[in-house]
Amino acid sequence: MNVLVTGANGQLGQEFKNNITKSDFEFYFANENELDITNKNDILKYVNKRGINFILNCAAYTDVNESELNKELALNVNSYAVKNLVEICEEKRLKMIHFSTDYVYNSESLDPIKEDRNVNPINYYGYSKREGEKFIENSSSESIIIRTSWLYSNYKNNFVKTIINKGIDNEKLYVVNDQFGCPTYAKDLVNVIFHIIDSGIKPNYKIYNFSNEGFTNWYDFAKKIFELKKINSLIMPVNSENYKTIAKRPKYLVTDKSRIKDIFNVNIRNWEEALKEFIFNYK
Ligand SMILES: NC(=O)c1ccc[n+]([C@@H]2O[C@H](COP(=O)([O-])OP(=O)(O)OC[C@H]3O[C@@H](n4cnc5c(N)ncnc54)[C@H](OP(=O)(O)O)[C@@H]3O)[C@@H](O)[C@H]2O)c1
Repeated sequence: MNVLVTGANGQLGQEFKNNITKSDFEFYFANENELDITNKNDILKYVNKRGINFILNCAAYTDVNESELNKELALNVNSYAVKNLVEICEEKRLKMIHFSTDYVYNSESLDPIKEDRNVNPINYYGYSKREGEKFIENSSSESIIIRTSWLYSNYKNNFVKTIINKGIDNEKLYVVNDQFGCPTYAKDLVNVIFHIIDSGIKPNYKIYNFSNEGFTNWYDFAKKIFELKKINSLIMPVNSENYKTIAKRPKYLVTDKSRIKDIFNVNIRNWEEALKEFIFNYK
């Protein structure tokens, strides 16, 4: 199997690169300069030349605030480019795993959200990702969508790295305590994706939530990072009303993972256990 990973310089793309020894497949990593997914012809050429039969679409426009200002770009990358990919999957009978976000949901409670409930994006990033999902939902290709959240790894910028760096620099930190969600250790996501490729995409459903189990809020998450990293600098809770951002953020994004666990027979560890391993190995 020849697997193309798009957006290879992104956080998730790099996590795949770091773990390919765990898989028997041949991987082709293409960053944005090597393959711009908004250009269908370029994707076709890339796929034909290398005999690609599986795509992991890690490419996306992920800046949530900037998406409010650059709507056209967000929609091009997060939606129309997904249409390009899925059309090629249909035409050439390829399979794809596409990554989406918990920002397609909005909820008023901590009740775990199932894949077909509460879909109602409240910011443009979420909207653009949801529009992309629809092309896969409506296609005949054997492709699936993994909705993930609060992703962290050794790569690029993410909340865990930011908090550690600010803590080490002894910066006084204000972190929101009224937005709840589910952290995802990118390595755990990558392991589950390898398992799904190995076991074969099942026709039952097209959309699956994935994150670590349990939930937290950003302030408690940051406190846990400090505790595990043994950082003593000051951290203060603040509510969303006093911490305005360009893009609105939903307050409750606790996702239900029973579908992916049942269909693919996977276990998911708790976010605190995963974070502990990450921090233990973090240089
Ligand atoms: N990070 C999170 O917390 C989070 C949460 C929920 C869901 N997700 C989803 O998970 C997936 C992976 O996220 P991530 O954190 O790895 O994002 P990321 O670090 O921003 O990586 C995305 C990559 O896509 C590249 N890209 C942008 N436009 C492109 C184009 N037209 N053609 C090809 N590549 C392009 C970006 O290039 P540049 O580096 O040049 O910009 C970047 O390297 C995304 O679908 C995202 O929506 C992420």
